[in-house]
Amino acid sequence: MTGFQLQYETYKQAVDAALVSLPWGEDRLSRGMTYSLLGGGKRLRPVLALAAAALAGGDPLALTPPACGLEMIHTYSLIHDDLPCMDDDDTRRGLPANHIAFGEAAAVLAGDALLTLGLELIARPLPGIPPERNLRAVVLTAAAAGWRGMVGGQMLDMDGPPGKPGLEWLAHMQSLKTGALFIAAVELGAVLAGAEDEAVARLRVYAAALGAAFQIRDDILDLEGESAVLGKPTGSDGKLAKTTYPALLGLEGAAAALRQKTEEAIAALAAWGKEAAFLRELAARAAGREK
Ligand code: IPE
Ligand code: IPE
Ligand code: MG
Ligand code: MG
Ligand code: MG
Repeated sequence: MTGFQLQYETYKQAVDAALVSLPWGEDRLSRGMTYSLLGGGKRLRPVLALAAAALAGGDPLALTPPACGLEMIHTYSLIHDDLPCMDDDDTRRGLPANHIAFGEAAAVLAGDALLTLGLELIARPLPGIPPERNLRAVVLTAAAAGWRGMVGGQMLDMDGPPGKPGLEWLAHMQSLKTGALFIAAVELGAVLAGAEDEAVARLRVYAAALGAAFQIRDDILDLEGESAVLGKPTGSDGKLAKTTYPALLGLEGAAAALRQKTEEAIAALAAWGKEAAFLRELAARAAGREK
């Protein structure tokens, strides 16, 4: 394993272990929540939070519980995104989608419960960390997840552009549906670790560009990827005539936009030296990811 892979696995395993060890029950709601939460996923948002905390000089693994909260909020967004009334997709994380396995009502409720439990974990005080930082973290995460963030972006995605589809609308929609939670992840990690405002601002620029690149790659993989590797269907965007980067620019134009956003993300880390190597490599790898 490379140094990068080792660090990623250390963070991911801490998150996975903490998620498994929560006091889940045998009830149908617990089973529905854990089905989607524990059944795979790259854990990218919690990894971003922990890496940002490390860059800010904090102890990353001490922030595992709030990082798990971010993963719950993300997982909720995926469960709802797959519903028949939204993208109507039948597989996720290599398994039948939550609504296929548990039914629509239970899937809506599992999503709701993951959202609220996620916020609870972010609000809970942590040993040695001033609770004012939790307050900031919960406010920024709730804002990023909701009305003017991910949910707002999902609304735009569902409605489609008001007139002729354009790049400006697309970039705005994706900055909300995907970018907002990426920004919240680095900001949460940095704020809980006590970072300076300037460092938080630089990390926000990084995460905004990374989130854009990540969603462009997601759009490309919907056309070029393999569903067995992705763990979700391909061709979903085309089926619903979604406005995506390849739809507007073609695959080559989308690849160029992806390269530009990746460079922007890496450039945002210029004030740091080798201590930001992990976040630089993460951006480079996200651009070429197959899942
Ligand atoms: C999928 O996110 C939804 C998008 C924002 C494109 P991920 O690709 O991070 O999904 P998991 O968490 O690995 O399943
Ligand atoms: C949704 O984007 C991003 C979310 C906020 C869930 P997509 O609808 O393209 O995500 P996938 O491709 O289903 O994972
Ligand atoms: Mg969607
Ligand atoms: Mg979808
Ligand atoms: Mg997609």
